[in-house]
Amino acid sequence: MSLSQKAESIASEFVLSDDDVRKCSKQFIFELGEGLKHVVPTVCQIPTYVTKVARGTEKGVSLAVDLGGTNLRVCSVELKGDTKWTAKHAKRVIPPETMTGSNGAELFHLIAHEIDQFFQLHHRDTLQKLRQSKDVLPLGFTFSYPAYQTSINSGILLRWTKGFDIPDVINKDVCQLLQVAIDDFNLPVEVTALVNDALGALMFRAYTLPLSQTRTSVGAIFGTGTNGVYLEKLSNITKALGTHDDSTGEMFISSEWGSFDNGLLVQPNTKYDMKVDQSSINPGNQMFEKRVSGMFQGELLRVALNELYADPDACLFRGVQWDDPAQGEGPAPFFTRWAIDTSLLSIAAAENAQELTALSEALVKTLRIPANHVSADDVRAVKTIADAIGKRAARLAGMAIGSALIKGGRITVDRNILPVTRVTEDFSGVEAVDIAVDGSVVELYPGFERYMREVWRVIDGIGPAGEKMIKMGVAKDGSSIGAAIIALIVANGRASHTA
Ligand code: GLC
Repeated sequence: MSLSQKAESIASEFVLSDDDVRKCSKQFIFELGEGLKHVVPTVCQIPTYVTKVARGTEKGVSLAVDLGGTNLRVCSVELKGDTKWTAKHAKRVIPPETMTGSNGAELFHLIAHEIDQFFQLHHRDTLQKLRQSKDVLPLGFTFSYPAYQTSINSGILLRWTKGFDIPDVINKDVCQLLQVAIDDFNLPVEVTALVNDALGALMFRAYTLPLSQTRTSVGAIFGTGTNGVYLEKLSNITKALGTHDDSTGEMFISSEWGSFDNGLLVQPNTKYDMKVDQSSINPGNQMFEKRVSGMFQGELLRVALNELYADPDACLFRGVQWDDPAQGEGPAPFFTRWAIDTSLLSIAAAENAQELTALSEALVKTLRIPANHVSADDVRAVKTIADAIGKRAARLAGMAIGSALIKGGRITVDRNILPVTRVTEDFSGVEAVDIAVDGSVVELYPGFERYMREVWRVIDGIGPAGEKMIKMGVAKDGSSIGAAIIALIVANGRASHTA
């Protein structure tokens, strides 16, 4: 097989047909339902104890600390009460040795230390005043890992995902661990709310929307990891719930859809997926995340390109010497796990197949291959495979959001029950559904939304008419601010109860 034929053949393994999408969606909705009945280890449908969205009229000051996949952020937020806000931020990369080689005490000490530093840098006066008045600031803890909640401010870590592996935190209440560490620094801060990043993004978007606009009911992250929250009827949540507000009859549920179909009943599965899974720190887990999120797409591309390279007829990177001094010290990146970042797929997708200069430069830089060994055909082959991986991810992402919309009963126009003529009508008078998304993949991958919309049009229960009703907006870096908003709403709610 020629290079382009072999590349096309590998790319075809990543095709997810409309039928596949529909099968996945059915199973997805089933798993969402199961998670509401029992405490399952996979799509665990975590109750968030948040029962309504922000209106944009909330006022006050609060904090958030956000433990993400790569960064630790601290921020203080002032809500002005008119959908406007101001915030101060600090961010640091989480050291790799903390992510895997440390223990809970070290991790939470690091977080509390960052909060302390943040006060010293941005809010020295506030700190003094709070200490004098013996008041505390509410803090929202954005914790982007599956922590099972029995209240708004407690959550037991079920398992680590993405790159983290600190065994002694599992089965512990992460809010309590954080509070103890904060108290060690003698900081006037109370961990008021535990918030998944997807819910944070949703709350942030809801706060910033004009009151006249439909409130956001689904939030999704497509970044290092992937997850979605949606508004579910309380009557459908039949597993045990802690004390909660039932005035709205609904609650946001954090699905942990990264674990969808871990058994691979319906998901696409290629030999590249299997390799990536086997070399991960949690084989057999987060199987949906491993096909969709930013942590894994670049690695999938590297593994698939290794296959292409292994075919002597394809002649990828013809004549390259892996011990060429241009490769630098250590093993060649082409054969090194995680050496290709998912941003390379965005570069590939952004380029016209006839030009490919940016992709060519990115390949030379990432793989440290001398430019004279990267031919135009090589770059085209890389684009073919990269685009297939990116498209599959976006289609799976669309399937997940679409299924959550259906499960939450948000899409009221079902093409199956409407007379066919209505489907092509203008639905401008129909209330839209609003979705908040965040994360590098959805933000930066060209065509991600377009591919998702294609999927919504073919999913049973949404269809072309439903797709038109879906509004989607990126809540950039919204997960921290959203957590601060939730913490403030909880604190204000308590204050008004005790007043
Ligand atoms: C992982 C985490 C989940 C988080 C998502 C996005 O899937 O388990 O809690 O929301 O990544 O960051």
